[in-house]
Amino acid sequence: MSLSKKLSEIAASPTLALNSKAKDLSAKGVDVVNFTAGEPDFDTPDFIKEAAMEAIRSGFTKYTAAPGMPELREAIAKKLRHENGLDYPGSQIVVSCGGKHSLYNVFQALCNPGDEVIVPTPFWVSYSEQVKLCSSKPVFVGTREENGFRLLAEDLEKRVSSKTKAILLNSPCNPTGAVIDRKELKKIASIAVENGIYVVSDEIYEYLVYEGEHVSIASLGDEIRERTITVNGASKAYSMTGWRIGWAAGPADVMKMIGNFQSHTTSNPASISQKAYLAALNGPRDSIHRMRDEFRKRRDLIVTRLNEARPISCIKPHGSFYVFPNVSACLTGGIRDSMSFSRKLLEEARVAVVPGSAFGGEGHVRISYACSKETIEKGIDRIVDFLKKRS
Ligand SMILES: Cc1ncc(COP(=O)(O)O)c(C=O)c1O
Repeated sequence: MSLSKKLSEIAASPTLALNSKAKDLSAKGVDVVNFTAGEPDFDTPDFIKEAAMEAIRSGFTKYTAAPGMPELREAIAKKLRHENGLDYPGSQIVVSCGGKHSLYNVFQALCNPGDEVIVPTPFWVSYSEQVKLCSSKPVFVGTREENGFRLLAEDLEKRVSSKTKAILLNSPCNPTGAVIDRKELKKIASIAVENGIYVVSDEIYEYLVYEGEHVSIASLGDEIRERTITVNGASKAYSMTGWRIGWAAGPADVMKMIGNFQSHTTSNPASISQKAYLAALNGPRDSIHRMRDEFRKRRDLIVTRLNEARPISCIKPHGSFYVFPNVSACLTGGIRDSMSFSRKLLEEARVAVVPGSAFGGEGHVRISYACSKETIEKGIDRIVDFLKKRS
């Protein structure tokens, strides 16, 4: 009996697959340096955990409103007003089971079969698959290493067609760490407005900017605000990846549709997680600042060390917790591409990285520095040894 044609075309997330392979090896007692993590290595702050425990103790363990508790949607609205210059009523915000879920809902609400969504490369692996799940087509626009992998409006414009429904933006970016500046965002906003295209702005790494500033594209004027859906969540900001809270804010008609859709699919995200995130938003931001300061130090360390690991070269990203070094000069002697480089590195040096090909960035690998400085030093020492043995 044949199964769903649509789902048979969807591949498992390669980042999760490599992470679990590295974890399997570790569980077997192999000393693996794991650079594949897509989550901060800090603990969720205690005051957030406390709010969750209080929710359980007080019996806050039942369904909530499907698009999220009204108080939480109001708290997100307040955060957007104060931090992002965006004014939405709570009714235009839907809370879901993680940013990934929010993005899925947004694409489902926007896209029809045959529509195109422009995705800058290198890109986070789930965008293309989620677009395909709408029977729509991801259309890729390349960025260049010499520009710090920042999307240029002029490159984007060339990919716009009569079928373009939306542009996906991810700043700061996973996997490159690129941050798009205000000037370029203004140009991108003009292209979206002139062509009647939506913008889906994934801002999940907004607090992890080390140079420049984070700008929400929707804040750049009424016209772009009316066609932007901003996606964000608890995972990276508060080290809450396991709690599964994400949200989207955007035009009333789109958000109403998403709320209806969610009411028939997952209903509300976990009531306890919502209470925890409410406490996070109403609480102090010092854990975010501490985490950012620590990530900045680690970024500086890993970039310096990687540039000593010749022939690897690594530009300094402005945000997120990933570097995307160029390993193309290492693709010799039986190593054909970033996938075989990553395999060999895991087998021979016990260092796990994600091949750039998974993100549409062949010739690179993604290294997450969501790990201790000692782990960074140890992993890069092993990479240096690995390269020396091969040269
Ligand atoms: C760019 C980007 N967007 C969205 C997400 C989704 O995060 P979550 O579903 O945990 O909120 C991730 C997670 O790795 C990500 O890297």
